Amino acid sequence: PPEDKVTIHFVNQDGVRTTTSVTEGVSLLNVVITKKIDINGFGACDGTLACSTCHLIFEENIFQKMEPMVDEEVDMLDLAYGLTETSRLGCQVCVQKWMDGMTVQVPKDVKNEKMASTVNQ
Ligand code: FES
Repeated sequence: PPEDKVTIHFVNQDGVRTTTSVTEGVSLLNVVITKKIDINGFGACDGTLACSTCHLIFEENIFQKMEPMVDEEVDMLDLAYGLTETSRLGCQVCVQKWMDGMTVQVPKDVKNEKMASTVNQ
């Protein structure tokens, strides 16, 4: 890909892999929206840290290089279904050149999480 493009692989809730090439600096939420990546119920709060539907699981080496989380992200992530050691909220992560080639994984049970939160309302 051209110099200013970063390649990212998404694996959605059904295990379907999508590869996309994006500009540095955009959030992963924006990538999912603009590239129309098929992820159930992703980004329900438009990146305002009021949901956990943008939960993504990162590769260990990528996760460790990312900017630390702000408290609000930690709190919201605590509510995310299927939380892992390398989970982040996609709306809080901006694409950077060094992330080129990374794979981000959608937790398998986003559907169930959505159903559970509907029941709780
Ligand atoms: Fe809601 Fe990221 S889109 S917290």
